[in-house]
Amino acid sequence: MKRALRRRLQLIADNSLERKVIVVINGKGGVGKSSLSAALAVAFSKIGKKVLLAEMDEQGNNSEDLGFSKGALADKGAAQAAAILDGKPLSPTGQARPGLYVLPGGEMLEDIVEELYCQRRLAARMDDPEDQAAWMGMYAAAIDAVRDDYDVIILDVAPGSEPLQLQALMAGDMVVIPSKSDPSSRKGLRTVARRFGMAASLNASLRLLGVVVFATNTSATRVQEQIKEQLAGDLRGAAPVFEQTIRAVESAAVACRSHGKVPQEMRNSTDIDPSLRRSMKGLAGDYQSLAVEILQEWVRTSNEFEETA
Ligand SMILES: Nc1ncnc2c1ncn2[C@@H]1O[C@H](COP(=O)(O)OP(=O)(O)OP(=O)(O)O)[C@@H](O)[C@H]1O
Ligand SMILES: [Mg+2]
Repeated sequence: MKRALRRRLQLIADNSLERKVIVVINGKGGVGKSSLSAALAVAFSKIGKKVLLAEMDEQGNNSEDLGFSKGALADKGAAQAAAILDGKPLSPTGQARPGLYVLPGGEMLEDIVEELYCQRRLAARMDDPEDQAAWMGMYAAAIDAVRDDYDVIILDVAPGSEPLQLQALMAGDMVVIPSKSDPSSRKGLRTVARRFGMAASLNASLRLLGVVVFATNTSATRVQEQIKEQLAGDLRGAAPVFEQTIRAVESAAVACRSHGKVPQEMRNSTDIDPSLRRSMKGLAGDYQSLAVEILQEWVRTSNEFEETA
């Protein structure tokens, strides 16, 4: 593990680590992490990128969002468990869409979390600070071994598990935080910002790409601006709040999950009534524009990274 982290530091120092791992994270549940991860994964695969979507969560929501919960692709997290616990290569269970490879979440992630707690306890007894931190790099080592196989890797991280969050932040290059504007979502955001700081001191590749304002039920520009200012304040200006927000349309979100499709795939569906189709089009447009903005920030931060490396 220690060797894997050292190798990564060397790659960063040599400026030969291609930045491509996006961590979608918030310490609060139900803020849109899985919906956003699935929509981004489909948006990137549609423009020809080879995508790996890993759900680091026992809930397995990605399989519902992409409609493979009852199919052969769903493995309850077994592929991740085999890689993290048994040292097997991190192999996706298959493609949920052309070019979109999945590593599903599910109950087997519980075993991973338990092992991570054990490793953390053992590490705490070590004298060398490098040994103390090495347990945080278990996912990073597994992801780094398959990095070159994909153009983009998206990690959809469970809200309640600190060990999994630290693993994801150690494995990632870019962090996207979806957040609602209510006090508990903002608290979740500040928690993640703290963990980000901890991981960033060890993972030099990590950058906070930005915050996505999720499911706002107002179109009033002034209120939107106030929300953005508050969220930026919570991060003490450490990252931008994306210009594009994701509108609140619960009926569309529910229809997407029950059909196993993301809004971009449902926008022209004849299975839904015209008024729902209109909201779906709006929501799909939000995700499309956000995907473009995220790509722009990805390029900008990577350029910045190369200049400072
Ligand atoms: N644009 C939207 N407007 C309103 N509700 C939405 C929207 N998008 C998603 N939802 C609903 O919000 C809930 C949470 O969404 P999602 O599962 O994406 O969040 P999450 O952060 O991944 O949750 P968890 O922490 O449980 O993993 C879901 O029930 C979903 O249907
Ligand atoms: Mg989720």
